Amino acid sequence: MNVCVVGCGYVGLVAASCFASFGMTVVCIDNSKEKIDTLQNGDIPIYEPGLKELVQKSLSNGNLSFSSDISDAGSASAIVLAVGTPPGANGEADLSYILSAVKEISSLASDNKERAIIIKSTVPVGTSQIIRDLLDDLGVEENFYVVSNPEFLREGSAIFDFLHPDRIIAGIHSPKAKTLVETLYQPLTSQNIPLLITDNTSAEIIKYASNAFLATRIAYINQISDLCEACGGNIEVVAKGMGLDHRIGQHYLQPGPGFGGSCFPKDASALLATARNYQVDLSIVESTILANNKRKLSIVQKAIDIFKNHDVKKVAILGLAFKPDTDDLRESPALYAVPALVSQGFDVKVYDPAMPSKKIPALNITTEDSLVACIKGADAALILTEWQQFKMLDLQKLADALSAKVVFDTRNIFDAMRAAHAGLAYYSLGR
Ligand code: UGA
Repeated sequence: MNVCVVGCGYVGLVAASCFASFGMTVVCIDNSKEKIDTLQNGDIPIYEPGLKELVQKSLSNGNLSFSSDISDAGSASAIVLAVGTPPGANGEADLSYILSAVKEISSLASDNKERAIIIKSTVPVGTSQIIRDLLDDLGVEENFYVVSNPEFLREGSAIFDFLHPDRIIAGIHSPKAKTLVETLYQPLTSQNIPLLITDNTSAEIIKYASNAFLATRIAYINQISDLCEACGGNIEVVAKGMGLDHRIGQHYLQPGPGFGGSCFPKDASALLATARNYQVDLSIVESTILANNKRKLSIVQKAIDIFKNHDVKKVAILGLAFKPDTDDLRESPALYAVPALVSQGFDVKVYDPAMPSKKIPALNITTEDSLVACIKGADAALILTEWQQFKMLDLQKLADALSAKVVFDTRNIFDAMRAAHAGLAYYSLGR
């Protein structure tokens, strides 16, 4: 099967290299000539475990190529849209990249071949209809089926998630699209991965409703964690006890400094904006967004209180990314914590394994080149991201390095008893 992926960002590169790994012939298109040059050389502009190797392998066996010219997609029967949909002024997703990509794709219609435009970008409810209307205006509606095929991969485990999804969702408006979708995903469905074929609107809602639901679980467990802390319970046991109920399950019950990233905050806001457009009450999602914003601030306040109580002056911040195995800072709790600590007069050093010795303009700070350099000379540590490297830390060495021996761990990566044995004044969440 010949596939074209439009957009060489995070989702596009993962999808293109995974389709290529199925033996399909894939061309990945991006408007940025500079990005295409970089990719053609096998260099990857983003940090994602395993992606570089997969791209290089598919480049060398000829299954994958890059281009900035849409006419190179001529032989493709499936055109996967994976361009960005950044948040607009009032929380709604900005569709301008999607619509200009569709206009470019419409130029392929001159050969009268039928193709599917497969929307993988996260797009608001109703986007498939907007695209169909645009194709109609351009006089090429007959040549394209529009498939809503949301992606559920997580940064940091994107390749694994693409190749082992819990489900594939495809929203279609034409029975002909069904055959094409089944062929495209045959390498996965043959491994018993369910393919749910539905209408376009339902598929669009499934993506947002799933992300907002997971975000709501996190906001909820964060509040239950606060309750545990206030009345002496232990959130680890509480979450485990809740999760043993199969109707609840163990996932996404880990308390933290508030969810971040490019998806949960943006998608929850976009879903809320859609509900408002349709005058539907989505106050649960609204509360999730509010609770998460408050969470990020309350965690910072807690850090300030702890450090002031211990007369801490120098703080080592461990982790900037919104989660491990990514260098993504979007909506990261660190964006609140670093400026707040600096403005309170703390002397702050930061380290993140994905961005050593790096100037971070958003924070007006340069990261340390190593974990050791970061904690050296510090009074206390604030753990913001649960990187494996931090989990492996020798607690005794950490205690020896920190003069006030204070650690505030917002990811509960250490056993509290062991931390206390090492002589640390150890603070964590909900226990
Ligand atoms: C999320 C979804 O999990 C993916 O299924 C989806 O495809 C993706 O958004 C997207 O829409 O593109 P991602 O944002 O990469 O993926 O990250 P997650 O691993 O889901 O974590 C999101 C945030 O929730 C992080 O800040 C993480 O620290 C936080 N989190 C997660 C918790 O605080 N507790 C948990 O138990 C789980």
